[in-house]
Amino acid sequence: MRGALFSTVVAATWLAHALSIPDSFRAALSRVHGQEPLVSPERYLIELAPGETRWVTDDEKWQLRREGANFFDITDTPELGTARRGTAATVTFPHKPAYNESIHPLIKELDKKQMSSHLETFTGFHTRYYKSDYGRQSSEWLFDQVNKTLTNAGVGTVKPFKHSWGQNSIIATLPGKSEKTVVIGAHQDSINLFLPSILAAPGADDDGSGTVTILEALRVLLMDEDILHGKAENTVEFHWYSAEEGGLLGSQAIFSDYEKHGRDVKAMLQTDMDGYTHATLAAGEPESVGVITDFVDPGLTAFIKQIVSTYCTIPFVETKCGYACSDHASASKAGYPSAFVIESDFKYSDKKIHTTEDKMEFLDFDHMLQHARLTLGLAYELAFAEFE
Ligand code: BES
Ligand code: ZN
Repeated sequence: MRGALFSTVVAATWLAHALSIPDSFRAALSRVHGQEPLVSPERYLIELAPGETRWVTDDEKWQLRREGANFFDITDTPELGTARRGTAATVTFPHKPAYNESIHPLIKELDKKQMSSHLETFTGFHTRYYKSDYGRQSSEWLFDQVNKTLTNAGVGTVKPFKHSWGQNSIIATLPGKSEKTVVIGAHQDSINLFLPSILAAPGADDDGSGTVTILEALRVLLMDEDILHGKAENTVEFHWYSAEEGGLLGSQAIFSDYEKHGRDVKAMLQTDMDGYTHATLAAGEPESVGVITDFVDPGLTAFIKQIVSTYCTIPFVETKCGYACSDHASASKAGYPSAFVIESDFKYSDKKIHTTEDKMEFLDFDHMLQHARLTLGLAYELAFAEFE
């Protein structure tokens, strides 16, 4: 019976697309499926460029996204960036990587089988849409994996960061000698932009890839004796954001909270999509790490390029992603230096994201291993860096 209803809904959905039936019908279908409450359309305040805001419904949000617009949803966080504005000091990053001897032996421990087995389960949730019950379940599963990783090492803590929607963000903390903090982030939610509440969204590349990459870097970072004994200069946090796809909601909530509490974040690196190399190779270009150069901190980005050259065996390519493209933008808005790395030049990035076809079978785990080297290298170097 459920199967029959589901097939009917899927067929109707397909028809809605084929016939270009308006978004109001999509909304009605979502409600028939029963994942969203039957309420009059809630409105959200989005920011498409600095100072350019608009009130929209969820359906209008997804329509804008399908047209290629990026935005912050600032409904709950209109103040983000106002507390530290003008007071945030520029952070100076190391001239060059200095912990080669400690990091090289760790790199050998990075294991792509760990990443693929995590991604297998993670993409097995029908969707990780932040408002769905599946999204809540996938977050709980991820929380358990992070918890196991810390428990096995016997160090660190992990906490859910709760939101008003169903899916929590997750924060793992490795305390160092000071409260100066380095953040490594990825987003855990996925979305199918055609009918978020109904259609499958495996989100293998976006951003299952970043999620499992930073988890693997965390597992291996914890093999270092100095990290285990809290000898790092700084605290290192790993974040898995909820609701990036809704307009950077989870990361804005977190950095807004950090800003209010005067948290001293020295650097934030976001990894969102690090598994797809097909288009790069098909174009005859070399496999490389895409280093984003717009809306990021130039000093941190320059250091990350050195990290790629030191700890990866492929080069980097500079590329751009636009305003409010991923969660690093929330850290920047709060006045914290942030950077962003992706799988390739933006033009060769995965075009199957936000659909049922963002599957694991299209990903390159050797490439993800390169990103794990980068993440591990940066986390280690900045954990021991002496910031002012
Ligand atoms: N993973 C994407 C951003 C991205 C796209 C990175 C292509 C690398 C290559 C992210 O999840 C996303 O979809 N971002 C939105 C904006 C967001 C604020 C709603 C986008 O780019 O449309
Ligand atoms: Zn996305």
